[in-house]
Amino acid sequence: MIVAVTRRLPSVAAEILTNAGLDIRQHPNDDPPTRQELLELVAGVDAVVCLLSDRIDSEILDAAGPQLRIVANYAVGLDNVDLDACKVRGIAVAHTPGVLTDATADMAWALLLAVSRRVVEGDALVRSGKWTGWSPLQLLGASFSGRTFGVVGLGRIGAATARRARGFGMRIVYSGRSRREEAARELDATYVPLDTLLQESDVVSLHCPSTPDTRHLIDAPALRRMKPTAYLVNTARGDVVDEQALVEALESGVIAGAGLDVFEREPALTPGLTDLPNVVLAPHLGSATTSTRQEMARMVAESVVAVLQDQPANHLAVQPGS
Ligand code: GLV
Ligand code: GLV
Repeated sequence: MIVAVTRRLPSVAAEILTNAGLDIRQHPNDDPPTRQELLELVAGVDAVVCLLSDRIDSEILDAAGPQLRIVANYAVGLDNVDLDACKVRGIAVAHTPGVLTDATADMAWALLLAVSRRVVEGDALVRSGKWTGWSPLQLLGASFSGRTFGVVGLGRIGAATARRARGFGMRIVYSGRSRREEAARELDATYVPLDTLLQESDVVSLHCPSTPDTRHLIDAPALRRMKPTAYLVNTARGDVVDEQALVEALESGVIAGAGLDVFEREPALTPGLTDLPNVVLAPHLGSATTSTRQEMARMVAESVVAVLQDQPANHLAVQPGS
């Protein structure tokens, strides 16, 4: 049986697949495959291991053929995979929840602290050779102790990010499609409507999936509801934010700043974003620690092996058909 792998992964994935007697058809380089390359890569395979940047839809599933049994996404988010199209074909879908929770929560805080304490501007000043020494009014930022941390989507990653906020002495409010009683109890977090969260929070951190309902959840009116001193952090999916509206809000001081790990049309950026001093930009690094990426590789490979060997598999978003 053949497993298509759309990018080079930590070597543990290939070890697990090979040890199980599976053949690997690997996209030959680290650039994203073009649509045509993806269609050719999957033809005739039994399993596909793909990335969040590969759009897996009916056309790809049909190009693979009826022997395809599992799509394993090297990500927790599944917005790039047409789950319904997989379900009707009996194709299982696996992903990587849990192992990237802490890494992503750390990244949210890295971005928040970087933008609110002006770490990137400060680094540039020091490197420029123009720094003349300590100064009482230089590069002043914000502090968060005693302030309010607003979590949009108190799932695993949202809760882990809020847990860190508790360590910073912050009060937690959250919104989302569903109430999360257990996490809310642990974090002493209060459920509020999104509009209230936007009005009350000093930090708004996004942790909802990308769905038709959450697309542009943070648009121009939402940004205007936020405090002019507040920060927006997005480590979820770029299209949850109207990026053009965000650029305008950052330019005109509607909010104080933003930390972004994801972009609406990544890797493309909305014009003006990179000119702003009050935003810190990261290239989708939420899960990018050595140990997390290894765990993700192990998980996708184990899911593929389990499904192809008719064993029970963990971390399936869609169960295999009969
Ligand atoms: C990364 O964005 C993921 O969904 O794992
Ligand atoms: C979902 O993305 C979660 O782990 O919170």
